[in-house]
Amino acid sequence: MPDTITITDDRTGKSVTVPITDGVFPSSAIRELDPNLYMYDPAYLSTAAARSEITYLDGAAGILRYRGYPIDQLAEHSTYLEVAYLLLNGELPNKVELDAWIEDVTLHTFIHENMRKRFVDGFHYDAHPMGMFISSVAALGTFYDDAKNIHDPQSRHNAIVRLIAKTPTLAAMCYRFSVGLPFNYPDNDLSYPANFLNMMWKIGDYEVHPALERAMDILFILHADHEQNCGTTAMRVVGSSQADPYSAAAAAAAALYGPLHGGANEAVVRMLGDIGDAENVPAFVESVKNGESRLMGFGHRVYKNYDPRAKIIKEAAHDVFEVTGKNPLLDIALKLEEVALEDSYFVDRKLYPNVDFYSGLIYQAMKFPVDMFTVLFAIPRTVGWLAHWEELLNDKDQKISRPRQWYTGPDERDYVPLDQR
Ligand code: CMC
Repeated sequence: MPDTITITDDRTGKSVTVPITDGVFPSSAIRELDPNLYMYDPAYLSTAAARSEITYLDGAAGILRYRGYPIDQLAEHSTYLEVAYLLLNGELPNKVELDAWIEDVTLHTFIHENMRKRFVDGFHYDAHPMGMFISSVAALGTFYDDAKNIHDPQSRHNAIVRLIAKTPTLAAMCYRFSVGLPFNYPDNDLSYPANFLNMMWKIGDYEVHPALERAMDILFILHADHEQNCGTTAMRVVGSSQADPYSAAAAAAAALYGPLHGGANEAVVRMLGDIGDAENVPAFVESVKNGESRLMGFGHRVYKNYDPRAKIIKEAAHDVFEVTGKNPLLDIALKLEEVALEDSYFVDRKLYPNVDFYSGLIYQAMKFPVDMFTVLFAIPRTVGWLAHWEELLNDKDQKISRPRQWYTGPDERDYVPLDQR
């Protein structure tokens, strides 16, 4: 069987044959038939918008790999900063490379004092931490005169290191401002996740529990990248105009803020709270099937199988609950999963728990307020955005993103003066 596809324009009888590589064929074939012919593909359901070597995802089989390494192996054996190096450079670091990378990131955890004193202090006292975070990431770029030098490899490296190093600092700062607590400076003697937890929670003699430090690191690993999701697509689209990476990352974070993307774990916890008790689960499931509500944390554009990240998070939850005590919402979540996975509505539509179904329960047990959940997603996803941004800049095929539209508005008509309408 030839690995080609032949498309015939029945209006003209003209045909074009192009190769299929890895299940993808170039859409330019359509333009060869007729330069004014376009494919209508809202939300890019059938479009591969980029060629990428970073993350492999097989939604039907429930497989997720970063640079070829299965996500469960990385979650078990690696650390977030090692994974960040892998995503950015394509290979796991050796000891010398890893030490240098960790030192580089650690030396950049502090932020300019004006970010806190002048910028963050200007927010309303009850501003949402994610809104503050998005704006802070964009503002960060204004502090560096090389931010716009995106074609200079050293400036690019500087931006990447700064963003990875400073997003935990920004996140903790936004949280502490939102609850009126004084800012905690980074402690560069701590690991990346421990430093973040310390900035979040330290009051008096606080010490980071090693099990929570590890759980945070695993959650960071699991959220580091997920190929062409909505936020990463936003990063690529904005980056394609050659905007600076801070602005592009802020756009990606804004996409992540939506409840159908990174905001879903917040919605899951609210939903579980509303259900209130495991015995109310069947009635809630009925309301979902009647279209009255949506089962948040279930379903995925790409996974039509159990999200492999959800499996790892479900296991990690037990380690966290041993330290924090069990989150009472867990029983409702387990019941919900059990009922949904046996119900033909969810089975037929291939709706399974996604990464957000259990992550919120861990975050809540670790005392993070629900408003912080999307921020916790944004911190590690920053490296995914940046890896895709670099890949985009190095890809000769990439031009400024500029899709076309299917115009369905009125034909030309003459202006009607106001007194004749
Ligand atoms: N609860 C109830 N029904 C659902 C759900 C759900 N969570 N998800 C999909 N469906 C139904 C949907 O109503 C549709 O039914 P029908 O064919 O009868 O019209 C069918 O399943 C297909 O759904 P869709 O909306 O066409 O699927 P999509 O690929 O456009 O949406 C999704 C994917 C993630 C937006 C959706 O599943 C959803 O809204 N899930 C809940 C929100 C959520 O958990 N989001 C986190 C996604 S994972 C984190 C990330 O990667 O950002």
